[in-house]
Order: sequence, then structure tokens, then C-alpha cells
Amino acid sequence: MSSTSKPNISWMVRSSMSILSIIFYITRRSNDTINRRLLRLIDWKISPNPNSKSINGVSSSDVMVNSTHNLWFRLFIPSSTTSTAISSLPVIIFFHGGGFAYLSPSSIPYHFLCQLFCRSFPAIVVSVNYRLIPEHRFPSQYEDGLEMLKFLDRNIDVLGKSADITKCFLAGDSAGGNLIHHVAVRASLEKFQMLKLIGLISMQPYFGGEERTKSEIRLKRAPLCSMDKTDWCWKMFLPDGSNRDHESCNVSGPNAMDISKVDYPNTLLLVGGFDPLVDWQKRYYEWLRKSGKEVELIEYANMIHCFYYFPDLPETSQFISKVKDFMMKQMVNMN
Ligand SMILES: *[C@@H]1O[C@H](CO)[C@@H](O)[C@H](O)[C@H]1NC(C)=O
Ligand SMILES: *[C@@H]1O[C@H](CO)[C@@H](O)[C@H](O)[C@H]1NC(C)=O
Ligand SMILES: *[C@@H]1O[C@H](CO)[C@@H](O)[C@H](O)[C@H]1NC(C)=O
Repeated sequence: MSSTSKPNISWMVRSSMSILSIIFYITRRSNDTINRRLLRLIDWKISPNPNSKSINGVSSSDVMVNSTHNLWFRLFIPSSTTSTAISSLPVIIFFHGGGFAYLSPSSIPYHFLCQLFCRSFPAIVVSVNYRLIPEHRFPSQYEDGLEMLKFLDRNIDVLGKSADITKCFLAGDSAGGNLIHHVAVRASLEKFQMLKLIGLISMQPYFGGEERTKSEIRLKRAPLCSMDKTDWCWKMFLPDGSNRDHESCNVSGPNAMDISKVDYPNTLLLVGGFDPLVDWQKRYYEWLRKSGKEVELIEYANMIHCFYYFPDLPETSQFISKVKDFMMKQMVNMN
């Protein structure tokens, strides 16, 4: 692959990604804050749809968990017509991407992605609104993730009658992929009454380190995660005085914890050949394997970061069916 090669994706996809990129630049102030007021005008939000009949067989609603730090989630439930045969549905706890700084469960791409997950598997989907940088640094995001799990464990009823909390999957893309790794490690130290994590669906997770990888250099002009963006997000995320070899970022590096003894869920890892983060993601894959964890890699050579924002891409439907197989396998293993 030469440095001039371009992914074979449509003009539509390419320009949507460029628009998202521009939003990043115009809302970031020179004093390292984000202009949230301006962002609210351009990050188009969508309201939940409590009426499932009209909206593609999925109903959604927003549930507050802790108003002190605005921890809430958007709940997606498949309508009875699509799930009559299934009395106990798996629960997917989803963490959106956006460099820890942007987007939310009500942002258009994530509302529709979670709706698609909910309908396709089918599954109950819990899409988490966690605190964002630069207002809230590490480890607020991981703490919110763990608080979310504890809340669900204590309040099973909010998920509806068809949810089976003993079949939970953590899913997340980009920064959300980073989050679920650290939430899974923290959750392994908890004693839940009912909740059980049986799988991790890691979509193009956001990892990094001080070193520059070949893919970061080769794809330095990629629209969504060029190095200037990822570096800025790490700088705002990491505690003062630490660099990108911090264990939250350089996850398999010198400061990483030994996870070989951690009860870590089986993992499905999605990567794309035109994602600058792909080399970091593959190191994560190797590290999980070396630590004795079960992990399956799906690689789409021609895909960019966040390609699944586009449900019409054939790779998006292929990915959905891979996730379905993965989930089935974990649920069969349980019994
Ligand atoms: C950053 O700049 C904005 C706009 O100039 C200002 O309103 C805000 O208070 C500044 N924040 C900090 C932390 O300096
Ligand atoms: C809600 O969050 C605050 C901190 O922001 C915490 O002190 C409190 O214990 C949380 N409430 C519950 C019910 O967990
Ligand atoms: C982590 O940091 C070390 C030291 O800087 C580096 O050698 C390594 O390549 C980094 N990345 C990973 C994934 O280990």
C-alpha cells in the first residue's frame, strides 16, 4: 500500500467525514476548551422514539442514572414483532466514540447505529452518556462506565421484561473501544448480583503511545483521526504530567497492567486498513492473545475510521452479521 493510495469509498462518505473533521477544528478554542454552545448548533441530535411501531421496530427512551454528573443512557428495545420468539434478550452496553470529547447517544450516527444493533441481533441496547473532556479528565469516563454497570445490576427492571442481564456485552467504538477495555478490567474486580459480562465488541478502539506507528504516519491526513486530533484528545484526557505511554493509552506498553489473571471477556476486535490507529489496535490484539485471552480479529482492508456510520456500506452489514455470530457463540458457551 503506497502513501498515496486512497480507500475506495464514495464521495458521500468522504465528504461526511470531512465535515465531521471541520466541526472538530471550529469548535476547539485556542485555550484548549471546546465551544459547546457552537457545537450544540452543529452536532445534530435526535430525540428518542417511544413509539416502536412506526420507527423500524425499535422503541427508545432516555433514562437518568445520576443527575449530579449527568450520567444517563438511551435505551433501545426491539418491538415484540421482531422478537416474539426470544424471551430473554442479551444486553449490549454501548459507549460511543468521539475522542472522549465529542458526541453523545443522541447524536445522529450513534442513535441510528444503536437502533441498527437493537433490531439486527436483536438485543436490548443501552447507549451511555458519559462525561467528556476537556471538562472532565481521566478517569471520569471509566468511573461512569463502572457506575453504569452497577446501576443496571441494581435496577434490572428499567431494561424491560425481555432483558437478560446475565448476558451482557460491552461494545464501543473509537474512544468507546478504549473505555470498554478499562471498564471490563475494573468490572472484573466487582461483585455484581446478577449482571454478567460475556463478551466485548471492540470497534476500532482508540489506543496510542509516544511512539509513532507506521499507520499513523502513512495515514496522517485521514479525516477523523489525524495525529494532531488524537494528540490533542490524549493531552486533554490524561492526568497532568503523564504522556501517551500512560496505561490508559499505551495499553500494552511498559506501564500496562498484567491482565493474564484478569477475568476478561472474550473479544471481537474490528479494524480497518485505512484507520491511522490500526497498528495500535493490532498490538492490542497481540497483547490480549499473549495474555491468554480469546480474541477474534475482523479486518476490512479498505475501511476508514468510523465506516459503520454508513449503514449502506456492505462492510457494515458484514460486520453486523459477524457480531451476531460472535454473540451467539458466547451465549451458547454459557449454557
Ligand atoms: C477560553 O476562551 C473562551 C472564549 O474566549 C472563554 O469564554 C473561556 O472562559 C476560556 N476558558 C479558559 C479556561 O481559559
Ligand atoms: C452520583 O454521583 C455523585 C458524584 O458525582 C456521587 O457522590 C453519588 O454517590 C452518586 N449517586 C449514586 C446513587 O451513586
Ligand atoms: C508503548 O510504549 C513503549 C515505550 O515507549 C513502546 O516501545 C511501545 O511500542 C508502545 N506501544 C505499545 C503498544 O506497546
